Amino acid sequence: MTDPDPLQTIRKPALTLPTGYAPFSRTPTFDAHNLPPGLRDSHRTTHGVWAEIVMERGRLRYEWLDGSSRQWMLEAGEIGVIPTELEHRVEPLSDDLRFHLQLYRAPQAAQGDAAADDASPWETLDLRPLPPPVRHAKVFAAFDALSPGQALLLINDHDPSPLRGQFSVLRRHRYLWLPQSVGSERWSVYLYRREGREAPSLGETLKVDHQRLDQLLEASAAQLDRGDSHQPWLEDLTWGLKRHIRLEESLLFPAFIAAGGPRPPTEVMAMEHRQIEEDLERMRVAPTNADEALVALRRLLEQHNFKEEGVLYPVMARLLDERRAELTEALLTA
Ligand SMILES: [Fe+2]
Ligand SMILES: [Fe+2]
Repeated sequence: MTDPDPLQTIRKPALTLPTGYAPFSRTPTFDAHNLPPGLRDSHRTTHGVWAEIVMERGRLRYEWLDGSSRQWMLEAGEIGVIPTELEHRVEPLSDDLRFHLQLYRAPQAAQGDAAADDASPWETLDLRPLPPPVRHAKVFAAFDALSPGQALLLINDHDPSPLRGQFSVLRRHRYLWLPQSVGSERWSVYLYRREGREAPSLGETLKVDHQRLDQLLEASAAQLDRGDSHQPWLEDLTWGLKRHIRLEESLLFPAFIAAGGPRPPTEVMAMEHRQIEEDLERMRVAPTNADEALVALRRLLEQHNFKEEGVLYPVMARLLDERRAELTEALLTA
């Protein structure tokens, strides 16, 4: 039986947020002209984050790209609920469109024992107590048990570059390998399972790194809350954010400008990077009094990443398409 109108209207409670989820961020209001290209293209919310499309005026098409072909026409006063990590896109259906996104995340209680101990936001495989001959097999088994979009944190007592070499051959293009901490006793790697078998794009690699850093920020927030003197998640967050910023400023922005891209957006991003570094420093210096810096950093990263993912990265990816493989490799190994 065919539906004469394939667009349905969605209203609560057709789809509702999980119980206990709390609002934490709201985007600016978008219209048909300032809608970031990243929202029109396929995209998804990060792990643990749900969102509502809050319609202020006009009409919008909201479509799921999960193979179900579900789509809705949203009108003024209605709300479309976006489940966590679900691939979707939106498209303006009228010139007078106005809407914003309200983001929600799991309550502290839903994060299990994370607040009670130093639990990792990801499944963790600590290779240090294992005999060397079994380590690689363990990692491959744990990786193969992940679903696409999930990640594993590997902890090792030395640089696991031989393992990375094996992955590049045996799981080619099925993973992203993002170093999380580098030290004489503790090396950790965020090993992310991708969908698809083609080489990762610049945009995907950077977005996954944003997602990882967001999760590290929340893990740091839980540790800071308890006033611990030892802050390993904050150390990983600081190292990871500085690495991400260094790669953008020393590798991507110069390549973008050399390829004819405009300089001003990269200058705005660089100014925001300085503010991110300042907030991190305030947290490092006074971890027992870091609430204000934490709130500022969270808000700044939300806005900053939103602009990069919605506007800068898509333009950058188009201009740098010919250098995509070389730059992506540099992002993953630098
Ligand atoms: Fe940035
Ligand atoms: Fe970024």
